[in-house]
Amino acid sequence: MSDDFDWEGRYREDTARWDFCEVVPALEDWLIDQAPLTGKVVVPGCGRGHEAFAVARAWPEADVVGGDLSETAIREASETYDLPNLRFETGDFFAADGDGDLVAIIEHTCFCAIPPELRTVYRDTAARRLQAGGLLVAVFYLHPEETENDPDDGPPWGSSVPELNGRFGESFETLVSQVPERAFEGRKNRELFRVLKRR
Ligand SMILES: C[S@@+](CC[C@H](N)C(=O)[O-])C[C@H]1O[C@@H](n2cnc3c(N)ncnc32)[C@H](O)[C@@H]1O
Repeated sequence: MSDDFDWEGRYREDTARWDFCEVVPALEDWLIDQAPLTGKVVVPGCGRGHEAFAVARAWPEADVVGGDLSETAIREASETYDLPNLRFETGDFFAADGDGDLVAIIEHTCFCAIPPELRTVYRDTAARRLQAGGLLVAVFYLHPEETENDPDDGPPWGSSVPELNGRFGESFETLVSQVPERAFEGRKNRELFRVLKRR
C-alpha cells in the first residue's frame, strides 16, 4: 500500500501521541449496553490493543483479532493483554483474506490513518469481510461540524461527516451516529461515534 507515514517508527520511538493507553470512552460506554456478540471480530489499526482487549472482555464468546501494520505495536499489545478469546496479528487490513467472515469490525481512529486515496479500499474491505447485518463500529476522528475534508487536517489525514456519508452510504446503514459525551482530554468535539450495519 502507498502509505508514507511511519507508523512503526512512531511506536518504536514511543511518540504515538494518539495512544491514550486505555479504551476510548465512547466505545467503552457503548459496550456496556450491548448484548455480547459471538463470532469473529476484527479491530483494524488496533495499535497497542486497548479497544481489542475491551471488546474481547465484554464479548467472551467472540473471537477477537487485533491487527496493525506495526510490529512494535502488536508486540506491545500481546505483552499487555491476555485473554483466551483475543489475539494480535501484524498485517495490512487490506491484504487479509476473508469474505463475510466477520460479525463486527471495531475501530478507533483507523479510518483517519488511511490516506484518502485508499479509503474506498478501506470501505470495500470492510464490506467484503462483514457478513450481511454485520457491524462496523467506529470512533472517527474529525470535526463533527466541518463539511469539507481537509486532507492536511490530520492526524495524519483529515476526514469529515459528508465524506463518511458518501463513502459508506451505499453498503452500510447508519444505526448510530453521535458526538460522544465522554472523550479523552483534547478530543471533545473531535470525534464521531458511528455504528454502521452491512446491508
Ligand atoms: C491513529 S493510530 C490508532 C491506533 C489505535 N487504534 C489507538 O487508538 O491507539 C492508527 C493505526 O492504524 C494503523 N494502520 C494504518 N494503516 C493500516 C493498515 N492498512 N492496516 C492495519 N493497520 C494500519 C497504524 O499502524 C496505527 O497503529
